[in-house]
Amino acid sequence: MHFLLGQFLVRPPYPTGSYAGKTIIITGSNQGLGKEAARHYARLGASRIILAVRSLDKGHDAKHDIEHTTQCGPNTLQVWQLDMASYSSVCQFAARVRSELDRVDIALLNAGLAPARHAVAEGNEVLFTVNCISTVLLAVQLVPKLQATAARFSVRPVMCLTSSVAHTFTPFAEKSAPEGQIFAALNKRAATDGSYGAREDLYSISKLLPILAVRAMAEKCSASKAPITINLADPGLCWSGLARDFSGGVGNWLFMTVVARSTEVGSRTLVHAAAQGPESHGCYLSGCQIEEPSPVITGPGGKELQERVWKELVTQLEAIQPGGTTNALSG
Ligand SMILES: NC(=O)c1ccc[n+]([C@@H]2O[C@H](COP(=O)([O-])OP(=O)(O)OC[C@H]3O[C@@H](n4cnc5c(N)ncnc54)[C@H](OP(=O)(O)O)[C@@H]3O)[C@@H](O)[C@H]2O)c1
Repeated sequence: MHFLLGQFLVRPPYPTGSYAGKTIIITGSNQGLGKEAARHYARLGASRIILAVRSLDKGHDAKHDIEHTTQCGPNTLQVWQLDMASYSSVCQFAARVRSELDRVDIALLNAGLAPARHAVAEGNEVLFTVNCISTVLLAVQLVPKLQATAARFSVRPVMCLTSSVAHTFTPFAEKSAPEGQIFAALNKRAATDGSYGAREDLYSISKLLPILAVRAMAEKCSASKAPITINLADPGLCWSGLARDFSGGVGNWLFMTVVARSTEVGSRTLVHAAAQGPESHGCYLSGCQIEEPSPVITGPGGKELQERVWKELVTQLEAIQPGGTTNALSG
């Protein structure tokens, strides 16, 4: 009910203001919410927008479309390769950011997927690889760049992860898996239960895990200690290509027609969250305001779950880049 009321009663504000001088990275920006967020930033005069995409062709199509509709300068948009299903691609992208960009004011970590069928990438169900592990890997690798931007330009950069109200729809059964076995239990279910309900639930979990990770990261780099803000934004239910694999029939089409926002309207929530200050550090925003996330996170056992998930994530991240997580979050 809360979700439905939000869809009907909250109209995210149309982004205004100037982004002149700002450098903005948006992952998953060749279509959908990421592309519309990029269009807002281009319209508002951002100096440099990196469209981080897995298909360069699709990225260039998006670039031309945004240039055509906003009349932004020819050098504003850059298309960079990033495949979140590959850890080496994530690390190469982060290394390129470190070496080629003098500043990063905003990083919108938005790329995500909701596949109807099980697939594995980097040893985990691809849902978790893309929506959670690679997203957190990229977040951790970008933290030092945002901190350096803060120190050099006296600004407070923001990293915003695209979240979802869907994270509140799951009881997260695997939270009671034995120590160190949460991802293993999730991968096992993904490999053995291909039902519609299970795929929906696993998607919800793939959006819940990054909330736990952001809360853990925010504790390690507190708002007062680190001059950057990390938050999450729920864009609401939007018409996009996300559920392209699911054929929901006429009922679903009707529901989406009545309830869903356009990706342009949904993208306003991302631009809004990325304009917030330290009060939003570690927070989940929905309907353009800070909201409590799921009771799975905030209720009894939530803190312990956060620590267990963070420990498992760090183990995976350290296997990808030894020392990377500790170093990035220590300073
Ligand atoms: N639509 C909604 O109702 C809704 C609600 C809440 C949250 N969200 C979240 O919003 C974000 C954007 O989704 P959307 O609705 O805009 O859907 P979308 O139109 O399907 O956009 C998803 C974007 O992520 C990219 N992506 C997928 N896998 C990738 C990979 N391995 N590497 C790099 N990029 C990859 C896609 O690239 P390709 O075009 O190459 O596939 C696309 O650009 C997602 O994180 C989603 O979970 C959506």
